[in-house]
Amino acid sequence: MSLENDVRRAADIIGEADSVTIISHIDADGISTEAILAQALVREGMAVESVFVRQLEPMAMRHVPKDGSLKLFADLGAGQQNLLEEHGLSSDEVLILDHHVGQPCGTAYPQVNSLDHGITRMSAAGIAYLVAKAIDPTAIDLAKLAVIGNVGDMMARENCGLVGPAREIVRDGVECGNIVVQDHDLNCYGTSTRPVHVCLGYCDDPYIDGISNNTNAALRFLERLGVELKNPRGGWLVWEELPFEDRRTIISALAQQLIAHGRETDRLLAETYIFPDEPERTPLRNASEYATLLNACGRWAKPRIGSRICHGEHGEAYREAEHMLAHHRSVIRDLLQYILDAGVTELSHLQYVHTGDRFPDTIVGIGAGMALSKLNWKKPMMVLAAMVDEPEVTKVSMRTNEWALGRGVDLQKALVEAAAGAGGAGGGHRIAAGAFIPHDTEEEFVDSVNRILKRQFASADPDDS
Ligand code: C5P
Ligand code: C5P
Ligand code: C5P
Repeated sequence: MSLENDVRRAADIIGEADSVTIISHIDADGISTEAILAQALVREGMAVESVFVRQLEPMAMRHVPKDGSLKLFADLGAGQQNLLEEHGLSSDEVLILDHHVGQPCGTAYPQVNSLDHGITRMSAAGIAYLVAKAIDPTAIDLAKLAVIGNVGDMMARENCGLVGPAREIVRDGVECGNIVVQDHDLNCYGTSTRPVHVCLGYCDDPYIDGISNNTNAALRFLERLGVELKNPRGGWLVWEELPFEDRRTIISALAQQLIAHGRETDRLLAETYIFPDEPERTPLRNASEYATLLNACGRWAKPRIGSRICHGEHGEAYREAEHMLAHHRSVIRDLLQYILDAGVTELSHLQYVHTGDRFPDTIVGIGAGMALSKLNWKKPMMVLAAMVDEPEVTKVSMRTNEWALGRGVDLQKALVEAAAGAGGAGGGHRIAAGAFIPHDTEEEFVDSVNRILKRQFASADPDDS
């Protein structure tokens, strides 16, 4: 069936339901997915309940109600269909909207999955949006949330942004008027919230010699360019507020700086998505900062706060989210520093570090991704973490990059296979995957993943030994 047919069928299944329970994931994609679906269904006058889980694993299934509602599994479920079956869910009470690699079981659950249609760059929020639009073609205001989910799950391509069906969703948002696309914009976090020199000084990907990690030097660099960095009241401007000409001046000076130090310039620019209907100088103003705000809420156990913000609530919920964002960012900084200080153990085909019980299992994957670009980026990165509330279980997160994918690496396959061998369960994507394994199998598990990766590298390149 085509994607369009799958989406139509999903809309019909929802239309026939008396009530719906949305079971979604706690990250930016899961929260925006839930917010799209909940709003679309409430507008149709349907009864909706939402449940957020950090992962669909046996313990989490107890949050799935045993009632007559349609269970809408969103941003999860495809890789855990056996769990749904074990929980006694039949195919006529389940609908899966997901973009994770599927692990089918005996029951044929109806689902819409980007991967079934060869689409690797559209996350669950994109699918949720397509379903919402099939229910009500005028719901294009929700495209903005779909863009946030896609950006949060890193679906954008470097330089050209969201592509394929996700790009068509961007167009809906532009037509609706709540998204402005800026191509060749500065690829730094904080363009809507940080003074320009702070934004540049905090940016280390790309690493800009003489500017990264040094906000004072960044300020001197900008002053030499002669651009106005303050507003008439003497307050610092943020990047988004700079006139177009000044932004171009700064970008070309940064490009020259990168070239002068023999570095690539390709990571300097990105397509960004601005939300003109949101308050200026807040993280709600662009897709990347908005997604990070939602991640902060979800990964620190407050996904409902994130969902309320997605519903347009900007008062108390927003203030709480801002605190969580500050906390999230500082813990992520500590996590990265911990990994770099502790150092990784390098095996032949992977590098790993154990963070013990220092950081919650919900964020170690972010640390794995950030550490990868600072360490040996050719070797897939693994972080193991103790689960504080379940000491007998270890959380595993892995991240790799396009380079390794091009050489045969598939982290989802590697972790599913190795976790099954260790009596645990894994899943995810080729580029980013995770698993839960019994604590006492850690050592053999790491070796097993290393062996599988060696096999994967070798199958793409017979010379790799
Ligand atoms: O649940 P799950 O889909 O959330 O997680 C997706 C993860 O994959 C995110 O942590 C995201 O950062 C990561 N990812 C990545 N590089 C990509 C695409 C996704 O690291 N190109
Ligand atoms: O879990 P995944 O790998 O998607 O993590 C991506 C998230 O990492 C971003 O949405 C953001 O919350 C966080 N991040 C950050 N600062 C960075 C890089 C990533 O907060 N410099
Ligand atoms: O937790 P982490 O951010 O490392 O997850 C990376 C990817 O692996 C996510 O897409 C997540 O949904 C998936 N995952 C999974 N099964 C697990 C742990 C993570 O499918 N047990």
